[in-house]
Amino acid sequence: MPVKVWTVAAQKGGVGKTTTVVSIAGSLARRGYKVLLVDLDPHGSLTGYFGFNCDVVEPNAYGLFEAAANHEYRDVRSCIVETQETPGISLVPSSTALVSLDRRYGQQRGMGGVLKKCLDELDHEYDYCLIDCPPMLGILVVNALVACSSLIVPVQTEFMAVSSVERLLRTLEMIQRSSGLAVPYTVVPTMFDRRTRASHDSLARLRARPDIQQWPDVIPVDTQFREASRIGLPLTCWQPRARGSRAYEELLDHLKGFDQPQALLRAG
Ligand SMILES: Nc1ncnc2c1ncn2[C@@H]1O[C@H](COP(=O)(O)OP(=O)(O)OP(=O)(O)O)[C@@H](O)[C@H]1O
Ligand SMILES: [Mg+2]
Repeated sequence: MPVKVWTVAAQKGGVGKTTTVVSIAGSLARRGYKVLLVDLDPHGSLTGYFGFNCDVVEPNAYGLFEAAANHEYRDVRSCIVETQETPGISLVPSSTALVSLDRRYGQQRGMGGVLKKCLDELDHEYDYCLIDCPPMLGILVVNALVACSSLIVPVQTEFMAVSSVERLLRTLEMIQRSSGLAVPYTVVPTMFDRRTRASHDSLARLRARPDIQQWPDVIPVDTQFREASRIGLPLTCWQPRARGSRAYEELLDHLKGFDQPQALLRAG
């Protein structure tokens, strides 16, 4: 079975992208799956979460793009590091050098499909690959969207949530038109604080849009996420019974159910 590639992206900062990648990875690992994470954010918060410094860590994702730009072959396996405390989770670390990718190679032909080509070479080594994205659009996000079989779009339940989702979906449409690939997506409301009017209002605005494919539940605000990131473990591994962990477990059940009919459709 080829590795299932899920991209987590949103054209907005601080909405829970990295937390979603880490939490789902933790849940998958707890269920016995082998997970590969790819950090495409030059800020490297995912890389930092697992104790690596994206200023210095080698190997890293930049090597994949640089090799492709120079028409050299680089096996993605040579860019993977093992996380220390979380067996079952491996990582292609970020590099601060990724920030220069658009400027250096953004206009070069074929650069949008580099990651997909690399991940297509993986076979049975991993069950899932999760890609974390920077909040701004560019060649890195294009790579993540082209490479994935499913897209997860976290949206913080606050003012302007719907318009930020619309922006990403327009981008997705554009990429799909040029690549001919159709990627199913799921919008995931995050940081829902049931005590605040803003959370309820923005969720209601999202729910009023049947044209936006969305998870019918929410990820609640849970201060334990910050604590888990301080410790460097996914909350879903460290405190599986925490409110936030249970929500991500349910999200994973939903996403896995969603993947199967898609796979069947493709096969049929
Ligand atoms: N459900 C939640 N409840 C409480 N805090 C959360 C929740 N989800 C994420 N956070 C916290 O919010 C902050 C931002 O989350 P995160 O880094 O996942 O967002 P991001 O979208 O990846 O941000 P960036 O765009 O900067 O990469 C982090 O400190 C994280 O611990
Ligand atoms: Mg992030």
